[in-house]
Parts: sequence; structure tokens; C-alpha cells
Amino acid sequence: MNGDGSAPVISPVPLMEISTGFWASKTLAVSLELGLFTLLSDGRGLTAAELAEALRISERPAEMLLTGCASLGLLQRRDGRYVNTPLADECLVPGRPYYFGGWVQMLDQRLYRAWGELERAVRTNSPTSWHPGAQAHLLDGIDPELLDVFWDAMHSLSAYSGRRLAHAVDLSGVRWLLDVGGGSGSVDIELCRCHPDLRATVFDLPEVCPIAEAKARLAGVADRIGTAPGDFLADAALPAGHDAVLLSMVLHDWDEDRVREILRKCHDALPPDGLIIISELLVNDEKTGPAPAALMSLNMLIETSGRNYTPAEYTAWLSAAGFSDPRVVWFDSPGANGAITARRP
Ligand SMILES: C[S@@+](CC[C@H](N)C(=O)[O-])C[C@H]1O[C@@H](n2cnc3c(N)ncnc32)[C@H](O)[C@@H]1O
Repeated sequence: MNGDGSAPVISPVPLMEISTGFWASKTLAVSLELGLFTLLSDGRGLTAAELAEALRISERPAEMLLTGCASLGLLQRRDGRYVNTPLADECLVPGRPYYFGGWVQMLDQRLYRAWGELERAVRTNSPTSWHPGAQAHLLDGIDPELLDVFWDAMHSLSAYSGRRLAHAVDLSGVRWLLDVGGGSGSVDIELCRCHPDLRATVFDLPEVCPIAEAKARLAGVADRIGTAPGDFLADAALPAGHDAVLLSMVLHDWDEDRVREILRKCHDALPPDGLIIISELLVNDEKTGPAPAALMSLNMLIETSGRNYTPAEYTAWLSAAGFSDPRVVWFDSPGANGAITARRP
């Protein structure tokens, strides 16, 4: 009760923040699309009038966009001109090594629409970003330009996770890593940068392997990162000879039965003492958060038959697959907040 006997009023401010989340997301996506951060990448800065002229738009929306981006921590004012913050300069200018714009574009071009149908996904327990009746999988028949956006998104999302993972997990005894569902090889590129003696194999569908090969060439690590085309569900076994396997943002795509099957195949591909690493946005064991993992889980409802799992769930399934010594390490990155490791006895 308040001093005057009236009931305390709960502030609805948090609800305003949640319900307007897409305002911030759209401000970022449109600024990126208009090339704002690239225009500002020479460090000279722009006024609203100069931006309006450069983009051939009215000064009113130019000023609003600049103010909006500044409010979100993407721009700052220096001597009356707007300039990129270090975050925007490092992550939102195309061509920079840790460019994050691919993910922003994918959210905007693919997932924004699909999330518009979240209610249908919840009511039907099926994806809305693709048509399971008409397509074999979520990327089947996708427009090639959108496919490029998807791979740029995965690459930019996983680069920082790779950097964090490299320090969070002890890879000292690992010489050759099998990255199961390795995609563009983004995580492997970062792991190889941090561990000079490490080599990696990206195991992924045949059409994906050339993407990893091109990215490894571009990063100058093609001599240490190879590919092995295959299908972890259809193939009887995974490639042998590696002393560790990594599953980064792979298992959340699949239901529990498939997860167990993939873990069993990883176990069988490893030698005794071989290490398995599962890197994901992990939901806590109480299933109350954290928000990035819980909302990524809903994104899996939009996109797949999977969900984001908890350390307790992974630990039980690893043990059932024959692994021992499960450990959880926590770190902070956009695509993963932790990793579970275990060993084949
Ligand atoms: C969400 S992406 C994660 C990519 C990568 N591990 C990363 O962290 O950036 C899932 C990956 O699993 C791969 N994948 C899906 N089904 C597969 C299958 N049956 N066999 C092998 N790879 C598969 C996809 O092609 C994609 O590269």
C-alpha cells in the first residue's frame, strides 16, 4: 500500500519496451538497407541535411532516422554531426571482418514476416517461415538472393560465438575437429585463428560445403579447414579420425528423437577420450529464460521442429548416448550463451 492507503500502481513501462521492440529492429534494418553506416564509415560524419541530400530523401525523416539510431547506441554526435559508434563501425559496415548485417537482413527480409504469423505457429505447432507440405526443408527452393542472405546471416551470427567459444572451452588436446552441421565454417575460422595447431572439417550437406570452402579461402585458413559432404540423419556414420566434434546451433533445429540420434552418431565417430562440444543459446533448467535463448526457441517454432534446450536436457541425452563427464561453461555471444562438453569414455 502507498502511504495514503491507495494500492501501488504498477508501471507499464516494461510493456511499452516489449511491445515496441520491432520499432528498434526496423530502425536498424532500414538504416542498414539505406547504407547509413557505410556513408558514415569515413569518420567525417553527417548532418541531417547532408544525409537527406545523399539519400535523396526529405530532411524530416533523415533527422528522425539519425536521432533514432543515436538513441539506440548506433550513432553518436560529434561537433554537431552524427558519426558511427564503435559498435556500428565494426559490425554494421559491409566488408568488415565481424560484419553483423547479414543477420539483421535475414531478420528483416525473412523472419519479420514469419514472426507476423507467430499465432498460427503457436496454434498449429508448425513453422511459418516455409511450407512443410510443399518444401523438403526450410531452404528448399528458396530464392538464391535470399539464400545468400541466410548464409551471410549464419556467418555473421557465429563469428563472435566462435571467438568466445575458443576461450571458454579447453581445446588444448584437440588437433582435428569435426564441425557437424558446420555451415559456412564461421566458428571453425575463429577457432583456428585462436588455436594455431588446430585443423577442422566442416561436415554439412553437399550444397553447403562450397560456401565453407569459399569462406575459409577468404579468411586465409583453407589449408586448415576442409569439408566433408554428407547428411547426419541419412548417413549411417559420421567421418571418423577427429578427436573432437562440435555442434554449433545445430541441435536446436531438431526434435528430441533426432537430437538423440545425432548425439549417438557423434559418440560413435569419436575415439576414447574424444570431446563433444554443444554450443547453443541454452534455456535455463527452470525454463524461465534467459530471454535471448527463450526467444530463439520461439524462433525455432517459426523455422523448425526443434527448440532451445536446457543443460539438464543435454546432459541426460549425452549420458544416454554414452558420454561421460558433462560440463557446462557460460559465455556471452549473440548466437550462443554457453556450451556443454562431455567425453567418450
Ligand atoms: C543453424 S545452421 C548452423 C551452422 C553452423 N554450425 C554455425 O554455427 O554457424 C544449421 C546447419 O545444419 C546443417 N544441416 C541441416 N541438416 C543437415 C543434415 N541432415 N546433415 C548435415 N548438415 C545439416 C545446415 O545446412 C546448416 O549449415
